[in-house]
Amino acid sequence: MHCTREVTKDIIWVGGNDRRLALFENLFPIPDGVSYNSYVILDEKTAVMDTVDASITRQFIENVEHALGGRKLDYLVINHMEPDHCATIGELLRIHPELTLVGNEKTFRLISQFYDIDMEGRTLAVKEGDTLCLGKHTLHFVFAPMVHWPEVMMAYEESEKILFAADAFGSFGAHNGALFSDEVADAKAELPEMRRYYGNIVGKYGPQVQAVLKKAAGLDIAVICPLHGLIWRGDFGWVLEAYDKWSKYEPEEKSVVVFYASMYGDTQNAAEILAGMLAQEGVKGIRVYDVSKTHVSYLISEVFRCSHLVMAAPTYNNGLYPAMENLLTDMAALNLQNRTVGLIANGSWAPQSGKIMDAKLSAMKNMRVLDGTVTLRSSLKEEQTEELAALCRQIVESL
Ligand code: FEO
Repeated sequence: MHCTREVTKDIIWVGGNDRRLALFENLFPIPDGVSYNSYVILDEKTAVMDTVDASITRQFIENVEHALGGRKLDYLVINHMEPDHCATIGELLRIHPELTLVGNEKTFRLISQFYDIDMEGRTLAVKEGDTLCLGKHTLHFVFAPMVHWPEVMMAYEESEKILFAADAFGSFGAHNGALFSDEVADAKAELPEMRRYYGNIVGKYGPQVQAVLKKAAGLDIAVICPLHGLIWRGDFGWVLEAYDKWSKYEPEEKSVVVFYASMYGDTQNAAEILAGMLAQEGVKGIRVYDVSKTHVSYLISEVFRCSHLVMAAPTYNNGLYPAMENLLTDMAALNLQNRTVGLIANGSWAPQSGKIMDAKLSAMKNMRVLDGTVTLRSSLKEEQTEELAALCRQIVESL
């Protein structure tokens, strides 16, 4: 049975949800599942805007065929050639052998790398600014390289002011009945999973996102149709503002996130005491995370949220505790910058973790490591609480 929704009278959502997948990209936990959005445009010509992941092929095909209502499919527009949106290209071509694949040179190269599809005479290559007229509806192609792969483009449909935005403005999480942002009680409740999605999937490419936001600013957009998550309509200015901040690596909040690694609770103890001191000084929005417990994708999201970080970790094998090293490696890979960081190091006989964290942070852009790293010898002693208080004062003064 089909499960479709009208975005407008002529544009039909034909996507679906996967609540069984544990790890998106076999990497990121998705406890609330993930949605794959796809759209059919009905006009003198018909078009499908991207396909879906292989896991929901059956639902997708039922949806597309229902939306088409027996009509032939003229175009498949491929805005993004990652397999979570492209796994069913071959299936659509088998059902609609006459359809034309619309993409760019990089799109078609990726198709042939991933799949053995005979594309001879079945492609329409577009360039930045090209248009595709379907009848009343005209698609304008806006290239968005590296948001999130090099071939990515967006399509702006001018008659209904709809932006088909590829991965941009998407989120983890399956749909819960509501498909549109104005159908949920509080769309801003989506922010943490949107940020986690952005930070981990697209976060490395801030300048490229900035370039696309500048292009989008010149368009009159009523509806944003991303490939994952809610369709944005109504008041979605805050979504664009969040993307603007994230892509400039500006924090959302003047607040502190405390990351600790701790084998026996002693480094944790110092981190918890510092977090308490910060709260007593009036800092709001503090969150404390055990980096061994919480998946790094959530930690990265918190770095995007907060202006200040505290990183507390033991020395391990004369180096840095692996879970903290993993977080710092991921931060560097994602190009994170512009944060202020306080450090707590621990080492029972040869403390190294402070120096290593400092070096890794200093190699990132505009990371200010505060003076006065608190170095523990196994555990915090009463006489060291003043060192923690001094670090707390520095953090508060720099907030
Ligand atoms: Fe949802 Fe970059 O694929």
